[in-house]
Amino acid sequence: MQFLLILGFLGVLAQWSWVASSLNNDDQVFSITPKTQAEVDIVKNVSSQFETVLWSPAAPEFIREEAEVHLFVPGNSSQAVRELLQTHGVTHAVMLANTKELIEMQTRNASTDPRSGMSYYEKYHSLEDIYHWLNKTAMENPDRVKVILIGSSFEKRPLYVLKLSAISTTNTNKKAIWLDCGIHAREWIAPAFCLWFVQYSLSFYESNRDIATILDNMDVYVLPVMNPDGYKYTWTTDRMWRKNRSTREDSRCAGVDLNRNFDANWCTEGASHHPCSEIFCGEFPESEPEASAVASFLRRHKEAVALYVTIHSYSQMLLFPYSCTRDLTENHAELLSMAKEAAQKIKRYYRNNYKYGAGAETIYLAPGGSDDWAYKLGIKYSFTFELQDRGRYGFLLPPSEIPRACNEALIALKTIALRVVERI
Ligand code: ARG
Ligand code: ZN
Repeated sequence: MQFLLILGFLGVLAQWSWVASSLNNDDQVFSITPKTQAEVDIVKNVSSQFETVLWSPAAPEFIREEAEVHLFVPGNSSQAVRELLQTHGVTHAVMLANTKELIEMQTRNASTDPRSGMSYYEKYHSLEDIYHWLNKTAMENPDRVKVILIGSSFEKRPLYVLKLSAISTTNTNKKAIWLDCGIHAREWIAPAFCLWFVQYSLSFYESNRDIATILDNMDVYVLPVMNPDGYKYTWTTDRMWRKNRSTREDSRCAGVDLNRNFDANWCTEGASHHPCSEIFCGEFPESEPEASAVASFLRRHKEAVALYVTIHSYSQMLLFPYSCTRDLTENHAELLSMAKEAAQKIKRYYRNNYKYGAGAETIYLAPGGSDDWAYKLGIKYSFTFELQDRGRYGFLLPPSEIPRACNEALIALKTIALRVVERI
């Protein structure tokens, strides 16, 4: 009898330790706020070892005292990372413990289940799905949507832009908005927003005065996935991938940060010449086919494009140039007032806080970005939106949050676009 009791007890123990170790073996996201320069150095060190992935900031060189760091820690490095932090007395909190579950939620496709009640736009979609959606949308709206092939990716995937236009005959030299999403592969809410925006524009042109005003005065070019190779890679191989997938003979590391590859103080402070860095600027400005395709298209259409908007996540910010220098733009006050009004609208309608300001002063120096480049090309209204959230889920934002995240970005975009319409 006693023997059986002991056996039972051992069984429970074994189960417990199994649960505990399986928990510890899961990929987690740590939140760490270094308090001193010494702690900053330790966190930098940790983040460049053990196959961890920095979520925020984008690269170790941006880690500062008293600023929160979000670090993705794969299960097999978890113990080593915790020990290293502990021996140096650096405290951390586990921000996300259920990354596997969250990734599963993001990739689950409930479209086959008619009872789910979720619309297509309340889910994340694979690259193949998005290509299919593009064609379908164009076919179903032949007089309002045109598909334009602007180039191809490093791995030769097509870069399709949707051109949305209202059927109006009066306006001859119509202006335009450029909207791109998914320059960074892991920021899945970005392509989701581009799809959301197209759907909204097509459905509410007749009934929403703001969207009618915008579309009557401006065409909209939408590039739903600027980095298709990277996006595909986040679905198949590495959910945390940021850059494109270009390879080079002199390095084992793949990928260029497309938002450091544009010709705006290219590869100065805030970008890196090292191919293994998350903020690798590439061989030369526009060395990457994705960046070059967008830049060429905008150069050809620069007379028409009055507003440039690029969608990222996460951190909830409405940014405008410059990011490549601490100088202020010539129309800083105007850009600031537009961003401020947009942030206030989000606050009023969705009770959510978005920071706003010039990129360099609001986050960090980040040269070679598409927004700065577009601005320097002459597109005086140029914005980067960083959508939800502020770190609760980070890149693993559950699909249930898509509607709110997109509606926030939508109201910000409409607010700014209406201000641009007044000025053209
Ligand atoms: N998180 C974005 C990045 O690091 C910020 C983009 C702001 N604009 C810019 N030109 N850097 O790329
Ligand atoms: Zn980004």
